[in-house]
Amino acid sequence: MTLSGKRILLIISGGIAAYKSLDLIRRLRERGAEVRPVMTAGAQQFVTSLAVGALSASHVYTELFSREDEQDVGHIRLARECDLVVVAPATADLMAKMANGHADDLASTILLATDRTVLVAPAMNPKMWTHPATRRNRATLAADGIRFVGPASGEMAESGEAGEGRMAEPLEIVAAIEDLLTGAKPLGAKPLAGRKAIVTSGPTHEPIDPVRYIANRSSGKQGHAIAAALARLGADVTLVSGPVTIPDPAGVRVVRVERAEEMRDAVVAALPADVAVMVAAVADWRVASAAGNKIKKRPGEAPPPLQLAENPDILKTIGHHASRPKLVIGFAAETENVAENGRAKLERKGADYILANDVSPATGIMGGDSNRVKLIGRDGKEEWPEMAKDEVADKLAALIAAKLLP
Ligand code: CTP
Repeated sequence: MTLSGKRILLIISGGIAAYKSLDLIRRLRERGAEVRPVMTAGAQQFVTSLAVGALSASHVYTELFSREDEQDVGHIRLARECDLVVVAPATADLMAKMANGHADDLASTILLATDRTVLVAPAMNPKMWTHPATRRNRATLAADGIRFVGPASGEMAESGEAGEGRMAEPLEIVAAIEDLLTGAKPLGAKPLAGRKAIVTSGPTHEPIDPVRYIANRSSGKQGHAIAAALARLGADVTLVSGPVTIPDPAGVRVVRVERAEEMRDAVVAALPADVAVMVAAVADWRVASAAGNKIKKRPGEAPPPLQLAENPDILKTIGHHASRPKLVIGFAAETENVAENGRAKLERKGADYILANDVSPATGIMGGDSNRVKLIGRDGKEEWPEMAKDEVADKLAALIAAKLLP
């Protein structure tokens, strides 16, 4: 009895796959587990609480505001008095609620209140599963430490449509539960574990002579936050940073450079990678021939002219590189026509996404702690509200995790 004495809180949400949760209950009990079922209103349209109660030999919890249930165990105890919370089937709607922290019925309230590991077995139409909204929710949930089993590919029961979205078979769910509860696999695996990321950050300094340089106002805050967010999701991150005064983010390899050409070399040396996020405000020009010695003022002479040469475009180099990462993401610092200029940069530089922001002085973005970006992709754009640079980083890391999901 592999699950002897284990207490499983099974949340059944409303999908045709709910009939399989009856079999799941039987399989879990055969292995010695105690199953406490919770059903959403939708689930009760597909299977009866009578069947669920009979198979689980337990009271079936359905109401958030039931006086008897609250007196019996109460939703907070329900959420915590178990070894594992399993959601099978998990509908697109319940996943969306979980990702956004809703608590408007018993199931979603338990999912918000629990401090236990949660295993989700999604079941939905393939179009719903691959919809960008569901992909974002999956990534958010994965980043929150929620574990997944399935879905599998196959034909849908209702529509006959084929694709990914069919709930994992009960025995696969049992195997995932055994893995989690018997410690066969480490808990809290990260969605970007085993993935390599390269991030550039900060300004570059282009020397005029040994003591003077051309620079810009980039603080490195956004790039460093992105490197940290990717590392938190388990990625192996190389951060190539220009001169900044902020501390190194935790858990990333930092390569410090000064000039754009050094930054390009460090980025190319860090290839191959799964994702590259170019956040650095690379100087577009360098001084064509920096003086070896300090340029002296000469009384009566005109100031020295600065002859500029174009720097390599690092994002463009990576976007068109033979070992191009699967995902290449850039920023576009603009002061006008933000979306149009951002899209033009996406095309020109061979990026998959551009996060375009308005860096006019009035916005306070350069050097500030918050950012307001437009995410421009090949198939559309999305405006993100103003948020802290750390939050932009987390949202971008979640998007990257979703795009790199196997
Ligand atoms: N970038 C880069 N190398 C450069 C210039 C820019 O890798 N030499 C990257 C930046 O890190 C950013 C993106 O390209 O991800 C766009 O940077 P931005 O300064 O907005 O664009 P530029 O190419 O410099 O275009 P312009 O100055 O004309 O707006």
